[in-house]
Amino acid sequence: MILGWKNFKLTMGLPSPVELSPPIVLQPSSTQKKVRKRECSFTETFLKTLIRSGRTFVYPFTPLSIMSDKASLNFGDSTYSLNVLIGSENEKALDVRQLRKDSGLITFDDGYGNTGSCESTVTFIDGDKGILRYRGYDIAELAEKSNFLEVCLLLLNGELPSSQELTAFESKVSRFQTLPAEVLHAVQSMPGGIHPMGSLASGLQALGGACPHLCTNDRAQDIANFEDAAALIIAALPALAAANYRKKVGEELRVSDTSLNYCENFLSMMFAKDGDAPVNPALSKALDVIFLLHADHEQNCSTSTCRMIASGGANPFASLAGAVSALWGPLHGGANMAVINMLNDIHNSGDDGSKFIQSAKEGKSRLMGFGHRVYRNYDPRAKILKSACDQALEALGVSSPILDIARRLEEVALQDPYFIDRKLYPNVDFYSGIILQALGFPTDTFTVLFAIGRAPGWLAHWKEIAQTGKRIHRPRQIYQGANLRPYLSIENR
Ligand code: ACO
Repeated sequence: MILGWKNFKLTMGLPSPVELSPPIVLQPSSTQKKVRKRECSFTETFLKTLIRSGRTFVYPFTPLSIMSDKASLNFGDSTYSLNVLIGSENEKALDVRQLRKDSGLITFDDGYGNTGSCESTVTFIDGDKGILRYRGYDIAELAEKSNFLEVCLLLLNGELPSSQELTAFESKVSRFQTLPAEVLHAVQSMPGGIHPMGSLASGLQALGGACPHLCTNDRAQDIANFEDAAALIIAALPALAAANYRKKVGEELRVSDTSLNYCENFLSMMFAKDGDAPVNPALSKALDVIFLLHADHEQNCSTSTCRMIASGGANPFASLAGAVSALWGPLHGGANMAVINMLNDIHNSGDDGSKFIQSAKEGKSRLMGFGHRVYRNYDPRAKILKSACDQALEALGVSSPILDIARRLEEVALQDPYFIDRKLYPNVDFYSGIILQALGFPTDTFTVLFAIGRAPGWLAHWKEIAQTGKRIHRPRQIYQGANLRPYLSIENR
C-alpha cells in the first residue's frame, strides 16, 4: 500500500544466472585430511594460507583469561576445583569442561539461561545495563552513522570496511540480487499455503543447490568461498521474499534494479508497479535501520541453531535455512507479527489496552513485544525504533490507531508493579511491526524481514564456528523416561 512509485520504470525480463567469482577449489592436503578427522578444526597453517589468498578474514580469539581465584564444588567426599574464566568485558564463567570427566556429574540448565555455549567476538550484550555492541561499536552510534550493508561487513569481517571494500561489496550484492531462474521457479512452485518463512528456508536450500561449489560441506572449501556465499545470501534473501509475495498476490517478480540501493531495490521488488514514483528515502532509511538493529544478537535461539548446525560441518546455506526455521516461532522472530495481531485484536475489541494489560497480569494472555531473556533494563533497539516509527509515519503522512494503543500499553505497563517487578520492557519487536505495516508489508512477512536483517549475524557466527569451532555441539540430558522393560507384542497391549 501507500508507497508512491509514479514515473518509476523498470524493464521486465527473465532473471540472469547469478554471477559469481570463480570458485576456489582446494585440493585436500594430508594436513587437511587429518584436520577433518578432528571434527572440523583447522590448523594455523591452513588458516594463514586462506588469509594470504585474500579470500577470508580470521578474527582471532585471544586465549581465555583464567582468574587466580578458583571455585570449588563439594560433592560426596570429593572437592572439585573449577577455573573461573573472564571475557573481554569482564564477564565471568565457571569452567565445567572437565567436570563430567572428573566427577561423573553434568550441569543442568533448562533453557540455557546460565550456560555459555561458546567464545565469540561478534556481539556484546549487557542486558542489565541495556548495552548492545557489534564488534565493539555501540548500536545507537551504528544506527545513527552507519547503514545495513556496512554493518554486514563489520559483522562478517570484524572491522568497519574501507570505502573501496564497501563499494565492492555493495556492487556484488546488487549484482547477486537477481535470483537464478531455477531458484525463482522452485520458490514459486511451492504450495500456495506455504508461510513466507517456510518459503524462505526452502529458498535458501534451493539457492545452495544452484551454487553447489558454495555449499560443499567441506569446511575448507566452504570457508574459501565464504565471501561469495555470504554476499549471495544477503543479496538473495530480499529477492526470495519478494518472489514468494509476488506469487501470492498473482504478480510477476520485478527484475532487480542495480541503480537502487539495497532497501530501495527490495521495496521495488516487493511492491513497485509500472509508472510508480521512486520510493521516499525516509522509508527505505527506516527499513535500513530495522535491518541494522536486527543484524546480530549473540547466542539467541536462531543463532544458536545456526551454530549448532554449523558445528556438524554443514554449509552456510543449510545452517541459515535452519536458523530461519528457528526464528519463525512466536516467542522469537514471530513476535513482531504477534504484536500487530495483538494490537489489532485490542483495537477491534474496543479496548484501549487496559483490559488486555489486566489479562496479561492474570496470565491469560501475554503482552507480545514485551520482555526479553537478556535485557532486564531496556532493549536499546526498542528506543531507536520508537523514534524511527514516529519518523516513518510522519514521512508517510499517516496516523495509526494501533500505534496509539501501543504507546498506551507501554505507558501503562511501565508503571505497573507486575511488569516492573519482572523487569519487562518493550523489546525490538514492539515497534518494528508498526513501521513494517505502514510500509505495506503484510503481517506474515514481518518475520522474513527480521531474517533478512539477521542474516549477516548468522553468517558471522557460521564463519566463527567454521574457523574456530573444535567440537560438534552435543548437549547432555537428564533422562526421565521409563526404565528398561520388555517388549510387549501388539495383541497384549
Ligand atoms: N507478558 C506478560 N507476562 C510476561 C511476559 C509478557 N510479554 N514475558 C514474561 N512474562 C512473565 C512470565 O509470565 C513470568 O511470570 P511469573 O514469574 O509470574 O511466572 C515472568 O514474566 C518471567 O517470564 P519468562 O517466560 O520466564 O521469561 P523468559 O526470559 O523465559 O522469556 C520472552 C522471555 C520469551 C521474550 C518472554 O518475555 C515473552 O514471551 N515475551 C513475549 C514474546 C516476545 O515479545 N518475544 C520477542 C523476544 S525478542 C526477540 O526474539 C527478538
